[in-house]
Amino acid sequence: MIRSHIVGCGAYLPGNPVSNEDLARRVETSDEWIQQRTGIRQRYLAAEGELTSDLAIQAAQRALDHAQVKVGDLDLVIVATATPDETFPATATKVQAALGMTRGAAFDVQAVCSGFVYALSVADSMMKNGMARTALVIGAETFSRILDWSDRTTCVLFGDGAGAVVLRAGDGEGTPADRGVLSNVLHSDGRYHDLLYVDGGPSTTQKAGFLRMQGKEVFKHAVTNLAEVVGEGLTAAGLTTADVDWIVPHQANRRILDGTARKLGISHEKIVVTVDKHANTSAASIPLALTEAVHDGRIKRGQIVLMEAMGGGLTWGASVTRW
Ligand code: ACO
Repeated sequence: MIRSHIVGCGAYLPGNPVSNEDLARRVETSDEWIQQRTGIRQRYLAAEGELTSDLAIQAAQRALDHAQVKVGDLDLVIVATATPDETFPATATKVQAALGMTRGAAFDVQAVCSGFVYALSVADSMMKNGMARTALVIGAETFSRILDWSDRTTCVLFGDGAGAVVLRAGDGEGTPADRGVLSNVLHSDGRYHDLLYVDGGPSTTQKAGFLRMQGKEVFKHAVTNLAEVVGEGLTAAGLTTADVDWIVPHQANRRILDGTARKLGISHEKIVVTVDKHANTSAASIPLALTEAVHDGRIKRGQIVLMEAMGGGLTWGASVTRW
């Protein structure tokens, strides 16, 4: 059977880090409050005029270089984003043009913080049914543009950035011993719209709007949903928690990461944590964390890597890969 192999990854963070102390000069908050509640120490913010596509292009180029894959080989580009450059066309088509890719398909996937897991799942399905052989899957966001900088309960939590992976179709036996993506599980429940949404959009207010969140409620759903979907993902891959070498979670909050790991009985040392350095970069957070752990040598060939996320919608999902 066809298996999608992640053959390279790359990341891009704009500008210089912005510390909690820097934010405390803009809004009534403190380094102590932010670190205690979230584990966040700093975030990166895009410069004026620097767009989601600019971040995505940098990350994509780095992932292609790391994979040693030529643009001419690509037949699919998916950008997971909730902060596209424009309402249309898809940010992915801007990435496609900037890379000099003139064939294949490019489109965006919108599942907010779960966007990367959703996009990876779509790309994997397209590879499996023969619609693509080489794909770029990118998570890219400029959440700073949809933050209400007068709302301290949300503006301290997010950052901007992009991460990308290159997928290549390979062969497998259809067993858990195969390398490549072994399973994807996706969920959504639109009844929870009001817990996390943006109060604008082309059809609603004709303005981009600002992020609104009921933090405590989101927190409760996150730990329960994530623990469940991780179990589903592992079962679908024919594996158990004991097989997991690395969890690369969506980086929303250190307490969510720890709570989920505790519920699953997985050791803290197996979690890749970047939320302290990047804050919550929505769809970009998993490929940013993945790139760090691959490039510093933590993730090694043959290991089981589990990615999981939850975000607005609510949406949530998990993806299991043998590296
Ligand atoms: N600085 C200082 N004080 C603050 C700040 C701030 N930035 N924000 C809120 N406070 C105050 C509040 O006003 C409140 O004060 P009060 O007791 O006098 O009324 C106090 O801190 C406690 O506020 P809570 O909202 O109860 O704080 P809580 O402990 O719930 O933490 C947090 C808030 C960090 C948002 C938490 O609910 C959380 O992590 N939720 C998960 C949300 C999340 O990460 N979402 C990301 C998107 S979804 C996803 O990616 C999974």
